[in-house]
Amino acid sequence: MAGIISDIDAMTIVPVELGDRRYDVMIADGLIDHAARHLAPWLKRDRAIIVTDRNVADAQLSRLVASLEDAGITAQPIILPPGEGTKSWAHLAELVDALLGLGVERSEAIIALGGGVIGDLTGFAASIVKRGCDFIQIPTTLLAQVDSSVGGKTAINTGAGKNLVGAFYQPVLVLIDPTSLDSLPMRDRRAGYAEVVKYGLIDDADFFQWCEANGEKLLEGDAQARLYAIAHSVAAKARIVGADERETTGTRALLNLGHTFGHALEAETGFSDTLLHGEGVAAGMALAYRYSVRKGLCNGQDAERVAAHLRSVGLPDGLSAAGVQADGATLAAHMAHDKKASGGHVPFLLARGIGQTFLDKQVEMADVSAFLDGEAR
Ligand code: GLY
Repeated sequence: MAGIISDIDAMTIVPVELGDRRYDVMIADGLIDHAARHLAPWLKRDRAIIVTDRNVADAQLSRLVASLEDAGITAQPIILPPGEGTKSWAHLAELVDALLGLGVERSEAIIALGGGVIGDLTGFAASIVKRGCDFIQIPTTLLAQVDSSVGGKTAINTGAGKNLVGAFYQPVLVLIDPTSLDSLPMRDRRAGYAEVVKYGLIDDADFFQWCEANGEKLLEGDAQARLYAIAHSVAAKARIVGADERETTGTRALLNLGHTFGHALEAETGFSDTLLHGEGVAAGMALAYRYSVRKGLCNGQDAERVAAHLRSVGLPDGLSAAGVQADGATLAAHMAHDKKASGGHVPFLLARGIGQTFLDKQVEMADVSAFLDGEAR
């Protein structure tokens, strides 16, 4: 597969090529149990600062600590509360104080063990402590493994919205152990899987076809299917981030497929457990395809194929499946607050077919609103 350079001892390594900020994403079942040998070169001292949350600590921390102790490295965990609420000013301050309290040095990497919340918060803290410490991602959710741990977007949420304060700050290493998904609820795995499907829809019709054939198996925990999907997704993300690290040319924006519609659904449901981020993205991708059909860009069969696959794995494929009853104007108002809006226009990712996504910066919100009114019926 393009972008994957080696497969040594059942370890898949995907490089993220960013000049002097290049790093490897290592992927292998059981990697957390053998993490110390990969972490040691980045620690500089015989201790490892690990940022995690209470749930991940219960499920995974002892595996990582055992590996470190076997290598003579002392683990110093900082355990935060689980949930999106932790991506806040208050917890950022708490984390920064804890890191400084442990005397963190610039040259020792801080380890983020957890999902997107822990990864985003730790990455942002690492970017500001002592004007920048190294950090390592060990993502433990499917969403974090295939999306948020790779590419260096770090952030917290504020009263004004999600991810509005943050930095592009790349990790120095990402370690992915797919077995960490075994302890996750199926609903979380499904939500992460939406981001896997996304890579097929962006520019890889063959991978979408692979998802149609193997998605269910992957979600059930089939080790081979899971490894293949994660490595393929990470390679796709690495390629896109390598081409447009700071989302300036439009290439990285392709990763936002389904996110503008999805963001409106998430906002309408209060960014709560009613609709997980990945579920919003799934419904958003189905809406983006149907909206593309309305605009005469894409044929109806492709849009139905997308929706059918999402439905088949238990993901929402539209407003009602996402539990949203709002009208078009209400949803369009949520979109207008999108942080990617520029000059009064919200950029949309539309599609000419499966694997043919493109960025359209000239979409009329009145038209989107009318489309969503039709969807709500
Ligand atoms: N999750 C979208 C990005 O990393 O750009």
